[in-house]
Amino acid sequence: MNDKKVFENLLKIIEQYHFSQRSGKYLEYRNPTELRGLLELERPEKNGDWQEIFDWVEKYLTYSVKTNHPMFVNRMWVGANLPSIVGEIVAAVTNTSACTYESAPVSTLMEKYMIGRMLELVGFKNGEGQMTTGSSNANMIAMMTARNMAANTIKQAGMFGQRKLFAFVGADAHYSMDRAANILGIGADQLIKVPLDPLGAMIPAELERAVDRVLAGGGQPFFVVATAGTTVRGGYDSIEALLALREKYGFWLHVDGAWGGAAVFSEKLRNRYLRGLEEADSFTCDFHKMLGSSLMCNILLINKRTDALATVLCAGDGSYLFRNENIDGMEDLGTASLQCGRRVDSLKWFLDWKFFGREGLARRVEKNLDLCKYAEELVKASDHLELVVPRTSFNVCFRFKVPAEDNNSFNLALRTGLYRDGTSLVGLAYIDGELAMRLLVTNPAAERADIDTFFGNLIAKGQELLQELDVSLVADC
Ligand SMILES: Cc1ncc(COP(=O)(O)O)c(C=O)c1O
Repeated sequence: MNDKKVFENLLKIIEQYHFSQRSGKYLEYRNPTELRGLLELERPEKNGDWQEIFDWVEKYLTYSVKTNHPMFVNRMWVGANLPSIVGEIVAAVTNTSACTYESAPVSTLMEKYMIGRMLELVGFKNGEGQMTTGSSNANMIAMMTARNMAANTIKQAGMFGQRKLFAFVGADAHYSMDRAANILGIGADQLIKVPLDPLGAMIPAELERAVDRVLAGGGQPFFVVATAGTTVRGGYDSIEALLALREKYGFWLHVDGAWGGAAVFSEKLRNRYLRGLEEADSFTCDFHKMLGSSLMCNILLINKRTDALATVLCAGDGSYLFRNENIDGMEDLGTASLQCGRRVDSLKWFLDWKFFGREGLARRVEKNLDLCKYAEELVKASDHLELVVPRTSFNVCFRFKVPAEDNNSFNLALRTGLYRDGTSLVGLAYIDGELAMRLLVTNPAAERADIDTFFGNLIAKGQELLQELDVSLVADC
């Protein structure tokens, strides 16, 4: 098979897959043993055999989760926007690293352009930014920047002899904060988890108490995170309240908007959820979550500083990659990145931005919120369902009501049943020990009818399970 035929085949398969994504089951579930058998991973290599390659692709597609399916409501991302898929394919065939202008001239300028647009949108003045591999890393880079700004000898001398540094996050903050504290030598004990109010937002008075305690013990509070849309509950910490405390204590205020930061696109939602954002020190938002770019696609922005990232992160002597001499005003993004090789993520975000525009993305986020509100109303109106916690934004945490049963094990069985029979995949989390199914609506094609179908299937399966339980109880008697 020549290269031309390879591309023809590939495009045909991709197209077929694309049009089948929203129909049939969202997954042809097989348990790991069955799947291993079907995949035949041990089949001998066949040098240069393209037919074999396409057989593997076929198998991959047959048994993969169709994330664009309306019943895939499990994660913060779904099937990607088509412009970003185009960008992804072009990035793959051009295969370069976005670390230098030399190797990636167009993507360097696109990334700079997008950083500029995002700084404007967020309202950061004289700021800077970079595209990273996701919010976990963006959170870590923000913490690292704050750490090295708070104690500017660390880059050279390390943490030795350093006054103890403390970071503060809401109790529901993403686990990437724990990981960052570990990687950066802060230590889990110095990452203080601040109690939350009933809506899942950090209680500012509790933060103040915690900061005072640290100061009284001789520690240095250097970093506070406002989560804009917590992972499980969708809670928004009050940026304005935390800004007031920053005034008093001088810490770095980072906003983790991995999920709910997308509200910044809509003026209406920004006003409701992100007041004060323009005054924060840094902000991260995943374009690959609510905004639909293909995984991974993220931005980290820094406010009122243009050299923080390069100062904190730059390494290497400029001998082989980054040029000290400024050829044609060459701008290398890699100097302010933790990576050496950098995937070209700017192209897909740039194409999405040009295709949908800010308005299009704003309408998408608003529509998602409307659908979540609709889902919440269905839960409240149902005799079979109940909310586990109140909905504050995009996350609907609910469960099936089971009068005389253990709620957690019943709901776990229900959720697993729906997963295995290919009906739907909904998120699962424990909130104060109570199992909650977490419904996330991020598919731009989603409509009320999809939400109706999702709950209809879930209730039917729940009733079926209840009946089975009744039968087994009678049999036990
Ligand atoms: C609030 C929050 N922050 C950070 C992250 C990590 O983002 P990423 O998957 O891009 O590393 C997540 C992921 O779900 C999240 O919900």
